[in-house]
Amino acid sequence: MRHLSTTALRPVLAGLALATVTTVAVYAEGAKPADPALANSLNPNDKTAEIDQKILDKAQAVKVEDGKYLDADGHPTFHVTDNGKKFDWYSYSGYRRYHAECHVCHGPDGMGSTYAPALKDSLKHLSYEEFIGILVGGKQDVSAAQQQVMPAFGDNKNVMCYADDLYVYLRARAAGAMGRVRPSDKEDKPEAAKKAEKECLGG
Ligand code: HEC
Repeated sequence: MRHLSTTALRPVLAGLALATVTTVAVYAEGAKPADPALANSLNPNDKTAEIDQKILDKAQAVKVEDGKYLDADGHPTFHVTDNGKKFDWYSYSGYRRYHAECHVCHGPDGMGSTYAPALKDSLKHLSYEEFIGILVGGKQDVSAAQQQVMPAFGDNKNVMCYADDLYVYLRARAAGAMGRVRPSDKEDKPEAAKKAEKECLGG
């Protein structure tokens, strides 16, 4: 999964199917108890963070690889420390990318608009694979009276090279781990992220 952003854009979906199979095999051994060091430390004073305990539990990181946190299904997830002040690199990067590429339609902080749904809610039910699929191929509700279209971003490197970042940020919003505030502190940009970004943008 973490190679997603390094992959050339065309084979992204084919690669995903493969990655999913491997992930299942790796984690089928059974859930290991979560590492207490990976537990999230949320900000108790941020009333804009609507905590959803179910999503929060599901998004719990069980391991970290080069600064990217992964849940029990091997999907990218967020990690918060310092009472909700410090976020992992990908959450922070996703916050920035979201506000560059998505907020015009989906509203600031994933809150939604009259045109497009609140992604802080969508991410409560969309799987990682579904999210990536919509990002690549777009979405159109043909039954709606008013035709509202989610554009396909499959060819847009400014979006696809940061697909995991966007997912992780919106997941943090859905779980209520991040409120309507810009993260004040972040982990350093991992070497893996620098390398993946370079390959993805340049390839
Ligand atoms: C031009 C406006 C526009 C932009 C820009 C846009 N979207 Fe959308 N998006 C929409 C609309 C409209 C829908 C609803 C489509 C439908 O359900 O028919 C949507 C739906 C979605 C959905 C599915 C939500 C659900 O509940 O099923 C996801 C996920 C999504 N967008 C992610 C993103 C991300 C991430 C970005 C930024 C990279 C983005 N969108 C940028 C208009 C936009």
